Amino acid sequence: MQVPLMDLKAEYEALRPEILEAMDGALDSMQLFLGPNVQALEQEWAERCQAEHAIGVGSGTDALVIALKAMDIGPGDEVITVGWTFIATIEAIVLVGAQPVLVDIEPDYFCLDPELLAEAITPRTRAIIPVHIYGHPADMDAINQVAAAHDLKVIEDSAQAHLARHRGRPIGSLGQCGIFSFYMSKNLAGYGEGGMITTDDDELAEKARLLRSHGYTSKYEHALIGYNSRLDELQAAIVRVKLKRLQWGNQRRRELAAKYDELLAGLPITRPAVAPHTTHAYHLYTIRTSQRDDLAAHLEEHEIGFATHYRYPAHTQPACRPYGLREAKLPETEKAAGEVLQLPLHPYLSDEQIEYVAQTVREFFG
Ligand SMILES: Cc1ncc(COP(=O)(O)O)c(C=O)c1O
Repeated sequence: MQVPLMDLKAEYEALRPEILEAMDGALDSMQLFLGPNVQALEQEWAERCQAEHAIGVGSGTDALVIALKAMDIGPGDEVITVGWTFIATIEAIVLVGAQPVLVDIEPDYFCLDPELLAEAITPRTRAIIPVHIYGHPADMDAINQVAAAHDLKVIEDSAQAHLARHRGRPIGSLGQCGIFSFYMSKNLAGYGEGGMITTDDDELAEKARLLRSHGYTSKYEHALIGYNSRLDELQAAIVRVKLKRLQWGNQRRRELAAKYDELLAGLPITRPAVAPHTTHAYHLYTIRTSQRDDLAAHLEEHEIGFATHYRYPAHTQPACRPYGLREAKLPETEKAAGEVLQLPLHPYLSDEQIEYVAQTVREFFG
């Protein structure tokens, strides 16, 4: 049996008529410049996130860049984040001309360790970007407390955590703003690129709206130097179809994660932990083992898809060399890099498939 890490084809088969109808509707209207689907999705997403505003942009990476720009963060400023993230988080800070400052993760949830924030703050620090990695919310109470004490902005990188919750509130509504990605592999996705910024701050929302579209205030008039980073109408139409099933999909992911927990119990691996007062969105099901690479080879032999995010954490990447990030002391990040492995998890995974994966993992450990 082959079990892919994710199965976009299975999802498409289930949604094909609705997706084709939505795309046809968008093309039929030919209102492709911030059209009715983008506007409707912005409203629907703001409601789901319990945020005042949602602003559709070209990608999750652009959402980070635009959020930072809208806060006037740039050269001379420092932004604190983690090395345990997709490189886009760090890239965005560098792209606006600011300096990334990396702190370590706490090992249970792989999220920013708030205990380490105080020593990373300098007079140049302007913002913190916690990352809700793999779908697990960062400790927003502690992070917001430190941020408030030092007058820092908080941008929640929620690219992997659509509708995860912290103390009952959707993530993306807990800092000054949240950013989301609709990249094809995410819990909520299109079939190209797309992203969203959520915020309660009217001024920030207005500036982000200008920045995403060349600073246009009206036809032929530009108030700001901005970007060409509008969410496109076809992606918005597709995302709206999938949004109707996001709660179901997240619930199914939680059920499958519970099933893995049960089937893998007793093995010498660490299964994902869930912090109290949080609802995990299980973008990925991440286990830890000191035999990671041998287990990966065993899974490959048995045609089971897997990933090892983040085998080479951002601060070790050649791209980050000019920014001095290697000097950061990140022992938990470096330990995790050698141990993590993601098993197949998506709403269309069958019982037969999950049992086969678990049995193959059990076989490996004898
Ligand atoms: C944690 C994190 N931040 C930011 C991004 C960037 O999103 P995008 O690929 O839509 O630019 C991603 C995903 O790819 C991500 O996983």
